[in-house]
Amino acid sequence: MAKKVLVTGGAGFIGSNFLNYVLRQRDDWEVVNLDKLTYAGNLENLKEIEEKPNYTFVKGDITNNELVNYLFEKYRFDYVINFAAESHVDRSILGSEVFFRTNVVGTNVLLEASRRFGIEKFLQVSTDEVYGSLGETGLFTEQTPLSPNSPYSSSKAGADLMAKSFHHTYDLPVVITRCSNNYGPYQFPEKLIPLMIINALNDKELPVYGDGLNVRDWIYVIDHNRAVELALENGKPGEVYNVGASREMKNIEIVKLILKILGKPESLIKYVKDRPGHDRRYAIDSSKIQSELGWKPSFEFEEAIVQTVEWYLKNKSWWERIISGEYQKYYETQYGQR
Ligand code: NAD
Ligand code: TYD
Repeated sequence: MAKKVLVTGGAGFIGSNFLNYVLRQRDDWEVVNLDKLTYAGNLENLKEIEEKPNYTFVKGDITNNELVNYLFEKYRFDYVINFAAESHVDRSILGSEVFFRTNVVGTNVLLEASRRFGIEKFLQVSTDEVYGSLGETGLFTEQTPLSPNSPYSSSKAGADLMAKSFHHTYDLPVVITRCSNNYGPYQFPEKLIPLMIINALNDKELPVYGDGLNVRDWIYVIDHNRAVELALENGKPGEVYNVGASREMKNIEIVKLILKILGKPESLIKYVKDRPGHDRRYAIDSSKIQSELGWKPSFEFEEAIVQTVEWYLKNKSWWERIISGEYQKYYETQYGQR
């Protein structure tokens, strides 16, 4: 029997890569993609799969109780994978309300419907940012206490706690994955890597926050998606699985690497005012998912970053449409210039 799968936020960066990846090989899933199509949602990302008979798109908000219940009634989902979220830290600093609404209230609406109708597994896509910030050494494990610092990461931690409580209280089969920073095709150009690639291509300044020495742990989006699929099917209810590829990089190293790949000068780099409350370092220990579920990253950073840069070079029309519109207003607010 085919599994009925509700994927939320499937028109965003990670969700669309997930659907493109999973629907290429799984005829045993019938997928409904529920996405509000906020500024970050883009149906162009799903052109490859939109005609598939086992795929349905529904434009809607995960905070809409009535709609969510209607969909559960209609499709009787076996699996729920919750990618939908407001995902950008800088936007959460400019205004936190929508982060609370979508990330916390929206997750709660999905959990309530899952409890009411009964499901086989609920996969909450979370982030390592719920653990807060590390010093020079150490790694986040699943035992690291939650200590989120930004409105974004606080809302994700809130959603994680709500999801965990549904397992503890109602025995809802919830699994949480906490992944480090992703890169790859279709990432919205507000995030570090695509922003720097596009600015470099346009010979615009590359705005590096603070001293540029903050560290992020990078993973190629498909490796994250494979972990989500595995944790959904084989993860133990109530458990958290950290996901990461052990590829720590200082921001300035990434920026210089992108310039090198593109053959652009380092004089484009501009150090700008730091992000308020900027987390210094993220680094993830993913040994649990490796030993318990047999996952391991399969993409080498050196190759995958070059492929990612090439994707942005080949898909200029995709990002040009984005930066010519609404996004321009955000860019002016955030960076004070065009
Ligand atoms: P994104 O911003 O690119 O996409 C979010 C998607 O959710 C968009 O398609 C948007 O339209 C949709 N959405 C937003 N609000 C909605 C609502 N109220 N109802 C329905 N749909 C809504 O985000 P992303 O980078 O693809 O992240 C996906 C998930 O992965 C998020 O939960 C995020 O917290 C998590 N995550 C991201 C990263 C990363 O590096 N990007 C790392 C770890 C975890
Ligand atoms: P980002 O892609 O926003 O991811 P997150 O904050 O969720 O880790 O940022 C990654 C790192 O890059 C973070 O340390 C902030 C930094 N950064 C800049 O230096 N300049 C920028 O313009 C952006 C968007 C990010």
